[in-house]
Amino acid sequence: MPDLTTEILSANPEGFERAAEIWRAGGLVALPTETVYGLGADARNDLAVARIFEAKGRPKFNPLIVHVASIAQAQELVIWNDLADRLAAAFWPGPLTLVLPIKENSGLSRLVTAELPTLAVRMPANPVAQKILATFGGPIAAPSANPSGKISPTSVDHVLSGLTGRIEAVIDGGTCDVGLESTIVGLADEPTLLRPGGLPREALEAALGAPMAVHTAADPLVAPGQMTSHYAPGAAVRLNATSKNEGEVLLGFGPMDCDLNLSASSDLREAATNLFHHLHALDTLNADGIAVSPIPYHGLGVAINDRLKRAAAPR
Ligand code: TXA
Ligand code: MG
Repeated sequence: MPDLTTEILSANPEGFERAAEIWRAGGLVALPTETVYGLGADARNDLAVARIFEAKGRPKFNPLIVHVASIAQAQELVIWNDLADRLAAAFWPGPLTLVLPIKENSGLSRLVTAELPTLAVRMPANPVAQKILATFGGPIAAPSANPSGKISPTSVDHVLSGLTGRIEAVIDGGTCDVGLESTIVGLADEPTLLRPGGLPREALEAALGAPMAVHTAADPLVAPGQMTSHYAPGAAVRLNATSKNEGEVLLGFGPMDCDLNLSASSDLREAATNLFHHLHALDTLNADGIAVSPIPYHGLGVAINDRLKRAAAPR
């Protein structure tokens, strides 16, 4: 791919117009969402979607999440149902992705679904994302805006450090509030938690009024993009550390002495927001390893532990 000049667009009407123009021409624009920055392209354009995989260096065509500006727009793409109604009413716009049967006449590129009979859709809450999607008016396919296997981006600097010269533009929307990718729920059959994320399972089950089935790694067809090693910093990651070894930096949680703290007050919400940010920051120190304190396994802690486990996995 030729080296592009990556434009940094402001979050204002001119910036939104320019982004829409690039998307209409089949280009790539990274956009802020409340979870992480996404690498967006027109989901109806095969060539544009193919370029997403090329820019990320994705080893294979994993299915992508399609981002929409409204529930009505989602309903044009998927076969909606009562549970989708209930969850969308409770949590959209927000960090929740719903997987539903795709409509035959959705008009989407087949690369978006990787030939699955279902589609993942999400309506982001970030006001910049909402405005840019409304300005474009069509469905935007967007994985996280990082090279495949690397730490997800929660700021413009993260996006640029991974993708400068590989994408046409990025919109500067500041740092991401939630800091973890969306929670993915399958609704094509019984409600199933496909990926823990920025919306805790407890909140979903309260809205559903029943426990959800949980996808296990033994069933790879369900969430084909969930690779074991992911979110990997340059240095080795060691989990559940109580202190740091020679050459390591320590990523803490709770009141303690450490190099960076996910949340000194043990607040999981704050820890989620800081997770990728701190991993990026520690990665630039070129330490031999990153030791990480134990994180409790409830609420957003489940998604934080999931991402940390992948960051620590053998590569
Ligand atoms: O918060 C997020 O979800 C971010 C922002 C940019 O929206 N996006 C994101 O996309 O995390 P990505 O590509 O990094 O992860 C998408 C996940 C993959 O694990 C993929 O397997 C799953 O969504 N997925 C997509 N379509 C699916 C489908 N039809 N059935 C099951 N899983 C699907
Ligand atoms: Mg990703």
